[in-house]
Amino acid sequence: MTLEHFDGAVTVITGGASGIGLACARALYGQGAHVVLADNNTQGLQKASQLIQQENPTSTAQVIAVPTDVTDEGQVQAIINRALDIRGGIDLVITCAGLGRGGLVDQFSAQEMALMMDVNFMGTFHCVRAALPNMRAQHSGHFVFLSSVAGKLCPPILSGYAATKWAVRGFSSALRAELYGSGIGVTTVYPAWVDTPMIHQEDTMGNMEIEALLTAEQVAEEIVKAVREDKRDLTLAPNQDIALLLQIMDDDQDKAEDLAGAAFQRRIQEIAQQQD
Ligand SMILES: NC(=O)c1ccc[n+]([C@@H]2O[C@H](COP(=O)([O-])OP(=O)(O)OC[C@H]3O[C@@H](n4cnc5c(N)ncnc54)[C@H](O)[C@@H]3O)[C@@H](O)[C@H]2O)c1
Repeated sequence: MTLEHFDGAVTVITGGASGIGLACARALYGQGAHVVLADNNTQGLQKASQLIQQENPTSTAQVIAVPTDVTDEGQVQAIINRALDIRGGIDLVITCAGLGRGGLVDQFSAQEMALMMDVNFMGTFHCVRAALPNMRAQHSGHFVFLSSVAGKLCPPILSGYAATKWAVRGFSSALRAELYGSGIGVTTVYPAWVDTPMIHQEDTMGNMEIEALLTAEQVAEEIVKAVREDKRDLTLAPNQDIALLLQIMDDDQDKAEDLAGAAFQRRIQEIAQQQD
């Protein structure tokens, strides 16, 4: 069943303290939804909760902020239970909790990789496992998973990050098939660079020069629309080069890998020459 109106809807948003998660929470609360925010940034969560309520002081919907580590299955179950306490059902779960780490695979530690997979993929998996029994019982509900264009491309120095985002993509595709006819929808979101704290972290994205192409508010607006339309794939790549690479990847993956690899090698040589 498509979720067309958000007034009184019960929504759970992981990564709700910042960036895309916070923008989704603001947009949905503004349309009358109850929002349960989960994030491991406790201070950010408090600020987010205050901001959301200050923007709509007359709303009767609830904002519940719960410090949560999405890698912990029990903590994820606890936020779903808090959402169920509102009126016994969950309409929408948006998984935005995520880590972005880059670097040559040679220098990327197994520990960093395991943590990124745990947050970006297992965090999503735990949400599905926890919310699904209720959604199945009510024959409705919607999941939104944040993948990335990296979940459709072959970006050098983001191999680990890409792996977590391809995992989200593969999971969502098979899950949609598994949930066929259940009344439960799944939207997978593939944005290019979004202006959030994630892309402004020093060093962590492999020292890449990143140009933001989208705001968190634009992504949130598109997500809300995609849920209303029960859209499966929300790809947001307002950049000719990225759009072209996505197309080439679709048509001929070998060619896309060669092009991305050659461009990367040229860039390394340019940097080396500048340093000489
Ligand atoms: N910013 C971009 O360019 C971009 C592009 C494509 C996809 N994405 C994806 O969108 C999602 C949201 O990212 P964002 O850009 O809003 O970044 P962000 O850093 O602003 O938000 C991510 C949030 O996740 C939280 N988080 C991290 N680890 C957690 C954990 N273990 N438990 C609970 N919360 C945790 C952080 O505290 C933060 O509030 C991520 O999955 C990211 O990979 C981002």
